[in-house]
Amino acid sequence: MLGRVNHIAIAVPDLNAATASYRDTLGAKVSQAQALPEHGVTVVFVELENTKVELLEPLGENSPIAAFLEKNPSGGMHHICYEVADIPDARDQLSASGARVLGSGEPKIGAHGKPVLFLHPKDFFGTLIELEQV
Ligand code: CO
Repeated sequence: MLGRVNHIAIAVPDLNAATASYRDTLGAKVSQAQALPEHGVTVVFVELENTKVELLEPLGENSPIAAFLEKNPSGGMHHICYEVADIPDARDQLSASGARVLGSGEPKIGAHGKPVLFLHPKDFFGTLIELEQV
C-alpha cells in the first residue's frame, strides 16, 4: 500500500527561527513561508534530495497543530506522510483491518492540492500518519 515518503512534518513554535536553523545551521535549501489559512498553518518546505521536511507554525485560532505545540512547546515531529496510489482503496483496506481514519473518512485536499487522509496515531505506534494520493 505505501509508496514513498512524501514529507515529514515538524511543528515549530517560531517558523522564522526554525527556517533559519535549517538554512544556516543545517545548510538546507528552504522555501519561502506560505500561509495556508484553510489548513491553519504557515509552512516552509525544506527541500532534500529524497524527500522534504515541512516546518509548520500555527496560523489562526483553530490551528490543528496548536494542541500539539501546547504539549510540545519546543516543537516536535508532528506527522509523516506516505504516498499511496489510490486513497479510497487504502482507506477501505485500513478500515477493514481496524485502523482508525480521522475525521469523516472522506479524503480532503491537502496542502499540495492532492487528496489526503490522516490515521490515528494510537494505531501506528504513536505516530500520526498522513496518506497522500499521488
Ligand atoms: Co503533511
